Amino acid sequence: MTTELEQLRDQALSDIAGAEDLQTLDEHRVALLGKKGEITARLKSLGSLPAEERKSAGAAINDIKRTLAQAIEERREALQQQQFAERMARESVDVTLPGRGERPGAMHPITLTRRRIEALFGQRGFEAVEGPEIEDDYHNFEALNVPPDHPARAMQDTFYLDAGRLLLRTHTSPVQIRTMENRQPPIRVIAPGRVYRCDSDRTHSPMFHQVEGLYVAPRVSFAELRAELQSFLEAFFETDLKLRFRPSYFPFTEPSAEVDIDGRSLGTGAGWMEVLGCGMVHPNVLNAAGVDSQRYAGYAFGMGIERLAMLRYGVTDLRQFYNNDLRMLAQFA
Ligand code: FA5
Ligand code: MG
Repeated sequence: MTTELEQLRDQALSDIAGAEDLQTLDEHRVALLGKKGEITARLKSLGSLPAEERKSAGAAINDIKRTLAQAIEERREALQQQQFAERMARESVDVTLPGRGERPGAMHPITLTRRRIEALFGQRGFEAVEGPEIEDDYHNFEALNVPPDHPARAMQDTFYLDAGRLLLRTHTSPVQIRTMENRQPPIRVIAPGRVYRCDSDRTHSPMFHQVEGLYVAPRVSFAELRAELQSFLEAFFETDLKLRFRPSYFPFTEPSAEVDIDGRSLGTGAGWMEVLGCGMVHPNVLNAAGVDSQRYAGYAFGMGIERLAMLRYGVTDLRQFYNNDLRMLAQFA
């Protein structure tokens, strides 16, 4: 083998060994063994040699060609392995590392309160039912003994949809009507859910939650209503309570009352807080919903879930429940 060929081989081997990536390696391969590569050119030029030299020169060049091809192949494998190892190192996840300390979520205080109310009424034999939040005028007002021009409509500033026939329910009382339309007495249900009024201050929010209660049976008295509410509220607050049944007016009950809790019995300070409205279901309401008011009587109540939550947790501004401030909400985890 000529020195010149040896030099070419050694230079090529050192280039191949020095290739740092697959692209550089491939450039060397093309320059040496490609169609216009140096080795290829030498094989092509064998024809111009005298016949006696051709054979040994051919053997020597082919020998180099094999050596270089093998060196390229080995280098390629090494580079591929190195690349793979680097990628594995980059993408690997150490599953034994400690977590980043994400805090678990928690129920919203209004959800906690609603569930607590449902559980306590469940123990008292009330089944939870639901009604639509988009109501018609008939179920929200008319069937509840509130005719179109009745001044009581102004007590509940209504969000109307659909030019007045549909509305966002202003209370959960329409579920009383829907329940009596579909069931025969005895009926003993609660209906928790969202209600909407054009109303906003420290104790009023435009969207809030109520729980309706309805008991219809052959004989039902106001005394039973009173006892049931006292028992429920004392279980809810886990303490004896001073309640005030204040005479009030609702078109759908007669007689009607609103119930206030004395803040002192809860340690939240002086002052009465209204938590619910209630009364004996008006005979017009029973009849409108298909219940014979000669045979059955009923009581009903509607309480504000936010009000109960405020008293239980000592929250003084109802709007805090809806500011989505995690510092506030995380306290209920
Ligand atoms: C009613 O909505 C009647 N449907 C309740 C009722 C049901 C009476 C069955 C008789 C028989 P009232 O508008 O007072 O009544 O609301 C009932 C309770 O909802 C209030 O005592 C209060 O706790 C709560 N509440 C009323 N308005 C708001 C408001 N804007 N934000 C938060 N809570 C409210
Ligand atoms: Mg009221």
